[in-house]
Amino acid sequence: MQFEPGDRRRVLPRHLRPQSAPDVFAYAIRPARSTDLPYVREIYNHFVSNSVVTLDERRSSIPYWREKFALLTRLGLPFLVAVSPSGVVLGYALAQPWAGKNAYRYTVEDSIYLGPGAGGKGLGAALLQALIDACEQLGIREMVAVISDSKADASIRLHAKLGFEEAGRMGRVGHKFGRELGTVYMKRVLKPVRRRKLFGSSAGR
Ligand SMILES: CC(C)(COP(=O)(O)OP(=O)(O)OC[C@H]1O[C@@H](n2cnc3c(N)ncnc32)[C@H](O)[C@@H]1OP(=O)(O)O)[C@@H](O)C(=O)NCCC(=O)NCCS
Repeated sequence: MQFEPGDRRRVLPRHLRPQSAPDVFAYAIRPARSTDLPYVREIYNHFVSNSVVTLDERRSSIPYWREKFALLTRLGLPFLVAVSPSGVVLGYALAQPWAGKNAYRYTVEDSIYLGPGAGGKGLGAALLQALIDACEQLGIREMVAVISDSKADASIRLHAKLGFEEAGRMGRVGHKFGRELGTVYMKRVLKPVRRRKLFGSSAGR
């Protein structure tokens, strides 16, 4: 079709024009709610069934996550989720007691998992930083990461980027999918902004 001089081009009204896809990866980080637990479970179970980044072999259940949520709530430890603008849970990060004994009360172990398509865009760094900030507010002094020594380059890189240093390795302590697996320990000193209230008496995991 050709336009003659004097023709007025037809311009679609704004609301009918094609929208360009947003190129920003938008999310909000907030404390987990009990309604998030089925999504958290799905994210974690994907890695249980398909990877060696966790040495868990059994898919987790909703009661397992309810119990963990209740424990962390009781101990006042952070359990964060990242959600998309439409409310989809993109990933989670939590801090749980390191070992079960009371003298470890100023130390936590972090756990961070992202859902499909959410990795490699800076979300892991944002979630882990938010977890560190929350722990510092609570008076936690040390954060430990226990990472598989196989296929967990992203986790090692993420923790190193956020100031964790390798604290040791244990080879061949795990066995999954017919393979021997070891663990890499990484640790970061936190800067607590106030004194930590004591954990409850049963600080087991
Ligand atoms: C580990 C995980 C949380 C990282 O989150 P992420 O959003 O992908 O990480 P980021 O985009 O914030 O990147 C953090 C760093 O890791 C690097 N990285 C990300 N994906 C990587 C990969 N597949 N291989 C190597 N490095 C990777 C990034 O380049 C970045 O480092 P840089 O800034 O120095 O380049 C995410 O990949 C994940 O959920 N992995 C599976 C579960 C898991 O391993 N959890 C940890 C159990 S201990």
